[in-house]
Amino acid sequence: MKSEYKIELYTGIRPTGDLTIANYVGAVKPLVELQKQGVKSLVFVADIHSLTDNEPATASKFCREVVADYLALGLDPSKTNIYIQSAIAYQVSYMTLLLARHVSVAELLRVPTLKDKLRNNANPKTANALLLLYPVMMASDILLQRAKSVPVGEDQLAHMEVVRRLARDFNTKYGEIFPIPTVQQVKSLRILSLKGSRKMSKSFPEGAIFLTDDMTKVKKKIKSAETALEGKLSDSLQSHIILAKELCDDHEVHSKIDTIIKDHMDGKHVMGAFKDLLTVIVVDFLSKFQVRRAEVVRDPSLIDGILKEGASMALANAESTLDLVRSSIK
Ligand code: TYM
Repeated sequence: MKSEYKIELYTGIRPTGDLTIANYVGAVKPLVELQKQGVKSLVFVADIHSLTDNEPATASKFCREVVADYLALGLDPSKTNIYIQSAIAYQVSYMTLLLARHVSVAELLRVPTLKDKLRNNANPKTANALLLLYPVMMASDILLQRAKSVPVGEDQLAHMEVVRRLARDFNTKYGEIFPIPTVQQVKSLRILSLKGSRKMSKSFPEGAIFLTDDMTKVKKKIKSAETALEGKLSDSLQSHIILAKELCDDHEVHSKIDTIIKDHMDGKHVMGAFKDLLTVIVVDFLSKFQVRRAEVVRDPSLIDGILKEGASMALANAESTLDLVRSSIK
């Protein structure tokens, strides 16, 4: 059975607290750029996914905040629909059960992000089982909407492999129901923490720049950021260069960065100048963002209306997919 493919571009973000600039660069910016090219997209706040680490009350607390962030970062509600995942909680849960039958515990235990999390910040004895099902729930989100393309950061690639495998196997067994979703990685981006080699993440706030950080805090964080010894290009420094260039599109600023890095590679002591420039770029980006965000939240009915429309679209898509799935697996 051939189905109509619904969503061109689809992605989500967990409401686990304030967003970092890495979330913007890795996930929201590509979406905003594609939106400018006229691609219709659907984005959602993955509150069910954040139950892996949080109480339900905490997960729902940040939902509207994330939507306000999306809007202030440039998502245009006339081109992009937005919904909260729990608005279709039944459909997501049911689809997760159906898909979970097609993945082994061994495959899930091999997912590198799970291994990493269990090694660094979760204890297998106390972590809840949703952590194991995380990629299956992602598959459920994406496949319910029959989305074609998913812009995500590099850290989500392993999950996307599980999603693609599940879609392929489901189609082979039951007929062509799902498009095999591709990862829309505009660039291979992995923004690192300002401290150490792990990725920048909300769960390690000392090394992260949050969109809500005040400028004094930002300056302090960048001042103490790791860079590289003269003549060397460390992973940290490369990540800071990407960050600076992604946050500012001005070619003159890009050439300034290139000149500083050339001097650094020639053995000059210029990391202070690089940090000063990075600070100016980040402060400029954040202060403009914070002004726009204050405007967005001034009228709460704006977000109410957007979420209502988004939920009804996501629900209609999810229901029609489930109808198709139910009739195919009979
Ligand atoms: P979350 O909230 O952890 O991350 C949201 C997006 O931000 C990207 N990102 C990064 N990109 C570059 N460098 C970083 N340091 C960095 N940190 C985060 C992530 O790759 C992600 O794109 N599992 C998803 C949420 C989700 C989802 C989905 C996404 C649930 N279901 C279905 C797409 C489709 C996540 O990691 O959220």
